[in-house]
Amino acid sequence: MMEELEGLRRSAESDLAAARTEDELTHIKTKYLGRKGALTAILRRIGSLGPEERQQLGKKANELKDFLSQQVEAALVRIRQEDRARKLQKEKIDCTLPGRRVAFGHKHPITIVREEICEIFGRLGFTVVEGPEVETDYYNFTALNIPPDHPARDMQDTFYLDNELLLRTHTSPVQVRTMEQMRPPLRILSPGRVYRPDSDVSHTPMFHQVEGLMVDRGVTFADLKGVLTYFVREMFGPETALRFRPSFFPFTEPSAEVDICCVICRGSGCRVCSQTGWLEILGSGMVDPAVFENVGYDAEEFTGFAFGLGIERIAMLKYGIGDIRLFFENDRRFLAQF
Ligand code: DAH
Repeated sequence: MMEELEGLRRSAESDLAAARTEDELTHIKTKYLGRKGALTAILRRIGSLGPEERQQLGKKANELKDFLSQQVEAALVRIRQEDRARKLQKEKIDCTLPGRRVAFGHKHPITIVREEICEIFGRLGFTVVEGPEVETDYYNFTALNIPPDHPARDMQDTFYLDNELLLRTHTSPVQVRTMEQMRPPLRILSPGRVYRPDSDVSHTPMFHQVEGLMVDRGVTFADLKGVLTYFVREMFGPETALRFRPSFFPFTEPSAEVDICCVICRGSGCRVCSQTGWLEILGSGMVDPAVFENVGYDAEEFTGFAFGLGIERIAMLKYGIGDIRLFFENDRRFLAQF
């Protein structure tokens, strides 16, 4: 039996040394020390031996039991340490690797150009005012001398919300709202979103305009030309050729559109300028006396000029962008270039 105990110790020691997991260890513990374990069985048999042998073997067996219990505890500590080391190895972070670069956002090209426009006119004393995007038929059309059945309404296809309300088709209604609130002299600029049911390479259903208005005693067409020439030269460079071309708008008389020399072909004629060498960039004119009458200004006392321009159009010409829809697709490869 002495040899049996010795053999048990050796086999238990080698089992413990081989154990890699807590489960395996529990298994080994049960195998030797459990109620039906090998050592427990021997201890039971010792009870039926003579007193001398019983004392000798009993002492030996109990020593082995204590020893194995300690060994199991020690193996548990070892296994836990190994587990932890393995986990740390797996989760190791190399803090010397280079970091991922943070992508900074920046202003949208439409914002950049809008701010530049406002800044240029700001130097001439124009201050920014805003008006609603949901507008009434009166402010969008009627007050601007565009009566209900006037053919000029066809110039601007309209998103109607109901009989009276619509999405403004231009920023010109802000002229009327401003003149209702303020007396001349005034110089205002009104940037904002406008809406028309149109969609192709040069039209989107929503786009941006800037409206300008100057009213005072003695304002003439020469002031209009001076202010708009200054704007064009600041925006597109001092050498930029421009021309004032007679046009028609119901709310101005006389009216003129401003063209700049084609930025693509520099005037020789290309696809972008339809072979004319010129690109239209804004509408303008002397405020029609009928509009003054609608806001209660005395057209004998005051004169003024107004203009309206599309921000996308200016941005496309300035940056050489061929498709207006790029502004609204939020493709970072496009936006990151500005
Ligand atoms: N409202 C016009 C449009 O959307 C642009 C315009 C033309 C505005 C002449 C003006 C102006 O103030 O005088 O096409």
